Amino acid sequence: SDTEKGTYNHFMLKEIDEQPFVIRNIVQKYQNDDGDIKLDDDIRSAINDADRLYIIAAGTSYHAGLVGKELMEKAANKPTEVHIASEFLYNEPLLSKNPLFIFISQSGETADCRGVLVNVKKQGFKSLTITNVPGSTLTRESDFTLHTYAGPEIAVASTKAYTAQMAVFSILAMDGARAQGIDTDFNAIRELGLIANAMETLCDQKDIMEQIAHDYMFKTPNCFFIGRARDYHVVQEGALKLKEISYIQAEGFAGGELKHGTIALIEDGTPVVAVTTQEHVNLNIRGNIQEVVARGAKACVISTEATKQEGDQIVLPNINELLTPLLSVVPLQLIAYFAALHRGCDVDKPRNLAKSVTVE
Ligand code: G6P
Repeated sequence: SDTEKGTYNHFMLKEIDEQPFVIRNIVQKYQNDDGDIKLDDDIRSAINDADRLYIIAAGTSYHAGLVGKELMEKAANKPTEVHIASEFLYNEPLLSKNPLFIFISQSGETADCRGVLVNVKKQGFKSLTITNVPGSTLTRESDFTLHTYAGPEIAVASTKAYTAQMAVFSILAMDGARAQGIDTDFNAIRELGLIANAMETLCDQKDIMEQIAHDYMFKTPNCFFIGRARDYHVVQEGALKLKEISYIQAEGFAGGELKHGTIALIEDGTPVVAVTTQEHVNLNIRGNIQEVVARGAKACVISTEATKQEGDQIVLPNINELLTPLLSVVPLQLIAYFAALHRGCDVDKPRNLAKSVTVE
């Protein structure tokens, strides 16, 4: 059953492996018999009528929001901002005339998000919650809810909820594009099918990820993750995964920002994980990889068939560039898992962390 580990030693590994099924499930749930997107008319109108979307979230859900913003802006031409809930709560930015608030929360219980929801309701604004737990506090208190259909997520480190959240955004983006008559070849439904298959292949390559975790992360006190543009969002999530379960100090940086400070930290043997899935910044990030390698870093490169170079550790199949985070995060999740496992950490219940944080 969903709440038992079965043959797995850890929920986290089970939940990583469930991602292809979750993605296929989402495609099914958000598709009608004609193959069109199935979405409540009220939600469609709320998104279309808003002059700006404000995504509010915490932790991993915030990282999904960064990708969600790009999908809404690039595929559906909808101005979107993403905010950390606890920051927005005490430092509300200047708002547009007709905003729609979108809360992303696996649990639907995060107090920081709820605080923002209470405030924006008082201001008379509409809200949509994207969550894995229908019936949760945020769904009860917001105007609309979309379900991520990931099934119960038990491990404290979020994995399948993150990819599910991004998948739902891809559907919203496709729907938004269609509703506005934007001429685009972006077809989330088709892409998600390809992604599910590719995820399965990656999940079958655990020996490769385990070897990388062993070679790069067995002893190190720290680890850097670099990426540009969309890959910058995913490396922030990769770093969060690694630090929360392995206690290795890990940070995700924008490749171009390294030279403004962080590169001072690179020493002989410092692991640097680089993600490069977009052709328009491939050469830039390749330059950044050379810069850190020249200072002694041990680079682990995750690329795609379109961006690969000889010596890359992991090469992902080509998929629509807007959606590469759904794929590139899988090796990052697995590397974090094996790093924590080999360092003897309590993978499913890391110290000091809670699955859902219901106090501010
Ligand atoms: C906690 C969890 C994180 C999660 C964050 C937001 O800190 O440990 O894994 O990303 O809350 O949770 P939510 O349920 O709102 O997505």
